[in-house]
Amino acid sequence: MASCGRGLLLALLGSMLLGALVVLVVEHRRRSPSPPQAAPQTFSAYISTLRRVRRDVEPAAPESPRPVLEEIGPQDVFIAVKTTSKFHRSRLDLLMETWVSRSNEQTFIFTDGDDEELKKQTANVINTNCSSAHSRQALSCKMAVEYDKFIESGRKWFCHVDDDNYVNVKTLTKLLSAYPHTQDVYIGKPSLDRPIQATERISESKTRPVNFWFATGGAGFCISRGLALKMSPWASGGHFMSTAEKIRLPDDCTIGYIIESVLGVKLIRSNLFHSHLENLHQVPQSEIHKQVTLSYGMFENKRNAINMKGAFSIEDDPSRFRSIHCLLHPDTPWCPTNIVY
Ligand SMILES: *[C@@H]1O[C@H](CO)[C@@H](O)[C@H](O)[C@H]1NC(C)=O
Repeated sequence: MASCGRGLLLALLGSMLLGALVVLVVEHRRRSPSPPQAAPQTFSAYISTLRRVRRDVEPAAPESPRPVLEEIGPQDVFIAVKTTSKFHRSRLDLLMETWVSRSNEQTFIFTDGDDEELKKQTANVINTNCSSAHSRQALSCKMAVEYDKFIESGRKWFCHVDDDNYVNVKTLTKLLSAYPHTQDVYIGKPSLDRPIQATERISESKTRPVNFWFATGGAGFCISRGLALKMSPWASGGHFMSTAEKIRLPDDCTIGYIIESVLGVKLIRSNLFHSHLENLHQVPQSEIHKQVTLSYGMFENKRNAINMKGAFSIEDDPSRFRSIHCLLHPDTPWCPTNIVY
Protein backbone atom coordinates (compact mmCIF):
# COMPACT_ATOMS: atom_id res chain seq x y z
CA MET A 1 0.00 0.00 0.00
CA ALA A 2 2.75 2.42 1.11
CA SER A 3 4.88 1.89 -2.00
CA CYS A 4 1.84 2.20 -4.13
CA GLY A 5 1.09 5.53 -2.41
CA ARG A 6 4.65 6.72 -2.92
CA GLY A 7 4.44 5.72 -6.56
CA LEU A 8 1.29 7.75 -6.89
CA LEU A 9 2.93 10.75 -5.21
CA LEU A 10 5.93 10.50 -7.53
CA ALA A 11 3.64 10.24 -10.52
CA LEU A 12 1.76 13.30 -9.30
CA LEU A 13 4.96 15.28 -8.78
CA GLY A 14 6.14 14.21 -12.21
CA SER A 15 2.97 15.36 -13.88
CA MET A 16 3.11 18.68 -12.03
CA LEU A 17 6.64 19.24 -13.34
CA LEU A 18 5.46 18.37 -16.82
CA GLY A 19 2.57 20.77 -16.36
CA ALA A 20 4.97 23.56 -15.39
CA LEU A 21 7.06 22.78 -18.47
CA VAL A 22 4.01 22.91 -20.70
CA VAL A 23 3.05 26.29 -19.26
CA LEU A 24 6.57 27.54 -19.94
CA VAL A 25 6.37 26.39 -23.55
CA VAL A 26 2.93 27.90 -23.79
CA GLU A 27 4.14 31.28 -22.59
CA HIS A 28 6.97 31.18 -25.08
CA ARG A 29 4.74 30.19 -27.96
CA ARG A 30 2.10 32.77 -27.17
CA ARG A 31 4.61 35.39 -28.14
CA SER A 32 5.70 33.75 -31.36
CA PRO A 33 3.02 31.65 -33.02
CA SER A 34 4.53 29.23 -35.50
CA PRO A 35 3.17 28.47 -38.94
CA PRO A 36 1.05 25.33 -39.30
CA GLN A 37 3.80 23.45 -41.14
CA ALA A 38 5.96 23.49 -38.01
CA ALA A 39 5.67 21.12 -35.06
CA PRO A 40 2.14 20.71 -33.68
CA GLN A 41 1.17 23.56 -31.40
CA THR A 42 0.83 23.19 -27.66
CA PHE A 43 -2.25 24.00 -25.63
CA SER A 44 -1.42 27.69 -25.93
CA ALA A 45 -4.38 28.63 -28.07
CA TYR A 46 -6.73 26.63 -25.90
CA ILE A 47 -5.51 28.18 -22.67
CA SER A 48 -5.51 31.69 -24.05
CA THR A 49 -9.04 31.23 -25.39
CA LEU A 50 -10.19 30.06 -21.98
CA ARG A 51 -8.77 33.26 -20.51
CA ARG A 52 -10.42 35.24 -23.24
CA VAL A 53 -13.79 33.58 -22.77
CA ARG A 54 -13.97 34.88 -19.24
CA ARG A 55 -13.27 38.42 -20.37
CA ASP A 56 -15.76 38.14 -23.18
CA VAL A 57 -18.84 37.57 -21.11
CA GLU A 58 -18.87 41.29 -20.41
CA PRO A 59 -21.63 42.96 -22.41
CA ALA A 60 -20.62 44.85 -25.54
CA ALA A 61 -19.80 48.49 -24.85
CA PRO A 62 -22.47 51.01 -25.87
CA GLU A 63 -21.90 52.18 -29.39
CA SER A 64 -20.59 55.71 -29.05
CA PRO A 65 -18.62 57.11 -31.96
CA ARG A 66 -14.89 56.84 -31.46
CA PRO A 67 -12.61 59.71 -32.45
CA VAL A 68 -10.88 59.59 -35.82
CA LEU A 69 -7.41 58.12 -35.48
CA GLU A 70 -6.43 57.90 -39.11
CA GLU A 71 -8.08 59.67 -42.03
CA ILE A 72 -8.97 57.04 -44.60
CA GLY A 73 -10.64 57.40 -47.95
CA PRO A 74 -12.70 55.03 -50.08
CA GLN A 75 -9.56 53.92 -51.94
CA ASP A 76 -8.18 52.49 -48.67
CA VAL A 77 -10.96 49.96 -48.18
CA PHE A 78 -11.35 46.69 -50.06
CA ILE A 79 -14.93 45.43 -49.86
CA ALA A 80 -15.34 41.82 -50.99
CA VAL A 81 -18.86 40.71 -51.85
CA LYS A 82 -19.27 36.94 -51.96
CA THR A 83 -21.89 35.63 -54.34
CA THR A 84 -22.67 32.73 -56.67
CA SER A 85 -23.86 32.65 -60.31
CA LYS A 86 -27.35 31.58 -59.26
CA PHE A 87 -27.86 34.86 -57.37
CA HIS A 88 -26.43 37.35 -59.89
CA ARG A 89 -29.89 38.49 -61.00
CA SER A 90 -31.94 37.94 -57.85
CA ARG A 91 -29.49 39.39 -55.32
CA LEU A 92 -26.50 41.07 -56.89
CA ASP A 93 -28.41 43.33 -59.31
CA LEU A 94 -30.10 44.93 -56.30
CA LEU A 95 -26.71 45.68 -54.73
CA MET A 96 -25.33 47.01 -58.02
CA GLU A 97 -28.31 49.34 -58.31
CA THR A 98 -28.04 50.56 -54.74
CA TRP A 99 -24.89 50.79 -52.61
CA VAL A 100 -22.35 49.30 -55.04
CA SER A 101 -23.24 51.92 -57.67
CA ARG A 102 -21.75 54.55 -55.34
CA SER A 103 -18.62 52.61 -54.43
CA ASN A 104 -17.61 50.83 -57.60
CA GLU A 105 -13.92 51.38 -57.07
CA GLN A 106 -13.71 49.72 -53.69
CA THR A 107 -16.17 46.89 -54.20
CA PHE A 108 -15.02 43.56 -55.60
CA ILE A 109 -17.47 40.84 -56.55
CA PHE A 110 -16.27 37.28 -55.90
CA THR A 111 -18.31 34.73 -57.77
CA ASP A 112 -18.02 31.34 -59.45
CA GLY A 113 -19.03 31.93 -63.05
CA ASP A 114 -18.61 34.40 -65.91
CA ASP A 115 -21.43 36.88 -66.46
CA GLU A 116 -21.23 39.36 -69.34
CA GLU A 117 -24.09 41.40 -67.94
CA LEU A 118 -22.32 41.83 -64.60
CA LYS A 119 -19.06 42.77 -66.30
CA LYS A 120 -20.87 45.66 -68.00
CA GLN A 121 -21.75 47.05 -64.57
CA THR A 122 -18.35 46.83 -62.93
CA ALA A 123 -14.79 45.99 -63.84
CA ASN A 124 -14.22 44.44 -60.41
CA VAL A 125 -15.67 40.98 -60.95
CA ILE A 126 -13.47 38.07 -59.94
CA ASN A 127 -14.33 34.60 -61.10
CA THR A 128 -12.80 32.52 -58.33
CA ASN A 129 -13.20 29.29 -60.33
CA CYS A 130 -14.44 27.77 -57.07
CA SER A 131 -17.31 25.29 -57.08
CA SER A 132 -20.79 26.85 -57.04
CA ALA A 133 -21.94 24.36 -54.38
CA HIS A 134 -22.84 25.86 -51.01
CA SER A 135 -20.35 23.51 -49.39
CA ARG A 136 -17.81 24.30 -46.72
CA GLN A 137 -15.00 23.75 -49.22
CA ALA A 138 -16.51 25.98 -51.91
CA LEU A 139 -17.07 28.81 -49.40
CA SER A 140 -13.53 28.53 -48.06
CA CYS A 141 -12.21 28.48 -51.61
CA LYS A 142 -13.83 31.88 -52.25
CA MET A 143 -12.63 33.36 -48.95
CA ALA A 144 -9.10 32.25 -49.86
CA VAL A 145 -9.29 34.14 -53.17
CA GLU A 146 -10.76 37.22 -51.40
CA TYR A 147 -7.84 37.20 -48.99
CA ASP A 148 -5.21 36.87 -51.73
CA LYS A 149 -6.79 39.64 -53.85
CA PHE A 150 -6.90 41.95 -50.85
CA ILE A 151 -3.23 41.39 -50.06
CA GLU A 152 -2.43 42.02 -53.73
CA SER A 153 -4.45 45.27 -53.69
CA GLY A 154 -2.20 46.91 -51.08
CA ARG A 155 -5.22 48.52 -49.39
CA LYS A 156 -5.48 49.25 -45.67
CA TRP A 157 -8.68 47.42 -44.77
CA PHE A 158 -10.30 44.16 -45.86
CA CYS A 159 -14.05 43.89 -45.43
CA HIS A 160 -16.11 40.87 -46.37
CA VAL A 161 -19.87 40.93 -46.94
CA ASP A 162 -22.44 38.58 -48.47
CA ASP A 163 -24.72 39.25 -51.43
CA ASP A 164 -27.65 39.93 -49.08
CA ASN A 165 -25.90 42.83 -47.30
CA TYR A 166 -26.45 46.54 -47.74
CA VAL A 167 -23.23 48.40 -46.90
CA ASN A 168 -23.27 52.01 -45.78
CA VAL A 169 -19.79 52.78 -47.05
CA LYS A 170 -19.70 56.16 -45.33
CA THR A 171 -20.31 54.77 -41.84
CA LEU A 172 -18.01 51.84 -42.59
CA THR A 173 -15.18 54.20 -43.52
CA LYS A 174 -15.87 56.28 -40.42
CA LEU A 175 -15.82 53.21 -38.17
CA LEU A 176 -12.51 52.00 -39.59
CA SER A 177 -10.90 55.43 -39.33
CA ALA A 178 -11.07 55.06 -35.53
CA TYR A 179 -8.57 52.18 -35.65
CA PRO A 180 -4.97 51.95 -36.84
CA HIS A 181 -4.74 49.77 -39.96
CA THR A 182 -1.19 48.72 -39.12
CA GLN A 183 -2.31 47.16 -35.80
CA ASP A 184 -4.31 43.97 -35.21
CA VAL A 185 -7.97 44.80 -35.80
CA TYR A 186 -10.77 42.28 -36.39
CA ILE A 187 -14.21 43.82 -36.15
CA GLY A 188 -17.69 42.44 -36.67
CA LYS A 189 -20.58 40.81 -34.89
CA PRO A 190 -20.81 37.26 -33.53
CA SER A 191 -24.01 35.35 -34.29
CA LEU A 192 -23.61 33.08 -31.27
CA ASP A 193 -23.82 34.19 -27.64
CA ARG A 194 -20.82 32.11 -26.64
CA PRO A 195 -17.55 31.04 -28.26
CA ILE A 196 -17.83 28.28 -30.81
CA GLN A 197 -16.38 24.95 -29.70
CA ALA A 198 -14.46 23.06 -32.29
CA THR A 199 -12.02 20.24 -32.59
CA GLU A 200 -8.67 20.99 -34.07
CA ARG A 201 -6.93 18.19 -35.89
CA ILE A 202 -3.26 18.21 -34.86
CA SER A 203 -2.23 15.03 -36.67
CA GLU A 204 -3.83 11.98 -38.27
CA SER A 205 -4.85 10.54 -34.92
CA LYS A 206 -4.73 13.50 -32.54
CA THR A 207 -7.31 16.23 -31.96
CA ARG A 208 -7.85 18.83 -29.28
CA PRO A 209 -10.76 21.10 -28.35
CA VAL A 210 -10.56 24.79 -29.20
CA ASN A 211 -13.06 27.55 -28.61
CA PHE A 212 -13.07 31.04 -29.96
CA TRP A 213 -15.30 33.91 -31.04
CA PHE A 214 -15.87 34.68 -34.69
CA ALA A 215 -17.66 37.43 -36.58
CA THR A 216 -20.48 35.97 -38.62
CA GLY A 217 -19.82 36.34 -42.35
CA GLY A 218 -23.48 37.11 -42.99
CA ALA A 219 -23.19 40.39 -41.10
CA GLY A 220 -19.88 41.35 -42.70
CA PHE A 221 -16.57 41.90 -40.91
CA CYS A 222 -13.34 43.81 -41.41
CA ILE A 223 -9.67 43.05 -40.86
CA SER A 224 -6.79 45.53 -40.78
CA ARG A 225 -3.89 45.06 -43.15
CA GLY A 226 -1.53 44.64 -40.22
CA LEU A 227 -3.51 41.66 -38.96
CA ALA A 228 -4.15 40.25 -42.43
CA LEU A 229 -0.41 40.09 -43.06
CA LYS A 230 0.10 38.13 -39.83
CA MET A 231 -2.57 35.66 -40.97
CA SER A 232 -0.64 34.86 -44.11
CA PRO A 233 0.93 31.51 -43.04
CA TRP A 234 -2.59 30.16 -42.38
CA ALA A 235 -4.56 32.11 -44.98
CA SER A 236 -2.56 32.81 -48.13
CA GLY A 237 -2.25 30.65 -51.20
CA GLY A 238 -3.67 27.23 -50.47
CA HIS A 239 -3.23 27.54 -46.71
CA PHE A 240 -6.72 28.86 -45.97
CA MET A 241 -8.29 25.69 -47.37
CA SER A 242 -6.03 23.43 -45.32
CA THR A 243 -6.64 25.49 -42.17
CA ALA A 244 -10.40 25.19 -42.75
CA GLU A 245 -9.98 21.43 -43.14
CA LYS A 246 -8.09 21.24 -39.87
CA ILE A 247 -11.10 22.46 -37.88
CA ARG A 248 -13.78 21.44 -40.41
CA LEU A 249 -15.81 24.62 -40.00
CA PRO A 250 -17.09 27.21 -42.50
CA ASP A 251 -15.06 30.10 -43.88
CA ASP A 252 -16.05 32.76 -41.32
CA CYS A 253 -15.29 30.42 -38.42
CA THR A 254 -11.91 29.67 -39.95
CA ILE A 255 -11.14 33.40 -40.02
CA GLY A 256 -12.05 33.59 -36.31
CA TYR A 257 -9.95 30.54 -35.56
CA ILE A 258 -6.84 31.98 -37.23
CA ILE A 259 -7.25 35.37 -35.54
CA GLU A 260 -8.40 34.38 -32.04
CA SER A 261 -7.02 30.89 -31.51
CA VAL A 262 -3.81 30.98 -33.48
CA LEU A 263 -2.78 34.64 -33.27
CA GLY A 264 -4.46 35.44 -29.93
CA VAL A 265 -6.15 38.63 -31.19
CA LYS A 266 -9.59 39.45 -29.84
CA LEU A 267 -12.65 40.17 -31.96
CA ILE A 268 -13.94 43.73 -31.52
CA ARG A 269 -17.71 43.51 -31.42
CA SER A 270 -19.79 46.05 -33.21
CA ASN A 271 -23.56 46.22 -33.14
CA LEU A 272 -23.50 48.20 -36.36
CA PHE A 273 -23.22 45.01 -38.44
CA HIS A 274 -26.39 43.03 -39.15
CA SER A 275 -27.11 39.63 -40.65
CA HIS A 276 -30.43 37.97 -41.49
CA LEU A 277 -29.79 35.66 -38.52
CA GLU A 278 -31.01 38.36 -36.16
CA ASN A 279 -34.40 40.04 -35.92
CA LEU A 280 -33.91 43.03 -38.21
CA HIS A 281 -37.13 44.64 -36.96
CA GLN A 282 -35.15 45.62 -33.89
CA VAL A 283 -33.16 48.24 -35.80
CA PRO A 284 -35.12 51.45 -35.15
CA GLN A 285 -35.95 53.57 -38.19
CA SER A 286 -34.18 56.53 -36.59
CA GLU A 287 -30.94 54.52 -36.34
CA ILE A 288 -30.81 53.08 -39.86
CA HIS A 289 -28.43 55.75 -41.14
CA LYS A 290 -25.90 54.89 -38.40
CA GLN A 291 -25.58 51.19 -39.26
CA VAL A 292 -22.64 49.77 -41.20
CA THR A 293 -24.33 46.73 -42.75
CA LEU A 294 -27.94 45.64 -43.06
CA SER A 295 -29.47 42.49 -44.46
CA TYR A 296 -32.69 40.68 -45.35
CA GLY A 297 -33.86 37.11 -45.73
CA MET A 298 -35.57 34.49 -43.64
CA PHE A 299 -35.25 34.17 -39.86
CA GLU A 300 -37.06 31.54 -37.81
CA ASN A 301 -39.28 30.78 -40.82
CA LYS A 302 -40.38 34.39 -41.15
CA ARG A 303 -39.56 37.05 -43.69
CA ASN A 304 -36.92 39.23 -42.08
CA ALA A 305 -36.08 42.76 -43.20
CA ILE A 306 -35.61 46.27 -41.87
CA ASN A 307 -38.91 47.71 -40.71
CA MET A 308 -39.23 51.16 -42.23
CA LYS A 309 -41.60 53.47 -43.93
CA GLY A 310 -39.84 54.52 -47.06
CA ALA A 311 -39.86 55.44 -50.68
CA PHE A 312 -41.19 52.03 -51.77
CA SER A 313 -43.85 49.65 -50.54
CA ILE A 314 -42.95 46.25 -49.09
CA GLU A 315 -44.37 44.63 -52.24
CA ASP A 316 -42.12 46.72 -54.50
CA ASP A 317 -39.12 46.58 -52.19
CA PRO A 318 -39.28 43.48 -49.96
CA SER A 319 -35.60 43.70 -48.95
CA ARG A 320 -36.13 47.43 -48.07
CA PHE A 321 -32.73 48.10 -49.69
CA ARG A 322 -34.15 50.54 -52.26
CA SER A 323 -35.95 52.46 -49.54
CA ILE A 324 -32.81 52.46 -47.38
CA HIS A 325 -30.78 53.68 -50.33
CA CYS A 326 -33.19 56.57 -50.96
CA LEU A 327 -33.10 57.46 -47.27
CA LEU A 328 -29.29 57.67 -47.36
CA HIS A 329 -28.94 59.08 -50.87
CA PRO A 330 -32.09 60.99 -51.79
CA ASP A 331 -30.30 62.49 -54.81
CA THR A 332 -30.32 59.11 -56.59
CA PRO A 333 -32.14 59.62 -59.94
CA TRP A 334 -34.62 56.78 -59.40
CA CYS A 335 -35.57 57.86 -55.86
CA PRO A 336 -38.95 59.57 -55.67
CA THR A 337 -38.78 63.17 -54.50
CA ASN A 338 -40.73 64.59 -51.58
CA ILE A 339 -40.92 61.48 -49.44
CA VAL A 340 -42.13 62.06 -45.90
CA TYR A 341 -40.57 59.61 -43.44
C1 LIG B 1 -9.97 31.37 -63.19
O1 LIG B 1 -9.66 30.76 -64.44
C2 LIG B 1 -9.36 31.67 -65.50
C3 LIG B 1 -9.18 30.88 -66.77
O2 LIG B 1 -8.32 29.81 -66.59
C4 LIG B 1 -8.11 32.49 -65.13
O3 LIG B 1 -7.82 33.42 -66.14
C5 LIG B 1 -8.38 33.21 -63.80
O4 LIG B 1 -7.21 33.90 -63.39
C6 LIG B 1 -8.80 32.22 -62.73
N1 LIG B 1 -9.18 32.98 -61.52
C7 LIG B 1 -8.51 32.93 -60.39
C8 LIG B 1 -9.00 33.78 -59.28
O5 LIG B 1 -7.54 32.23 -60.22
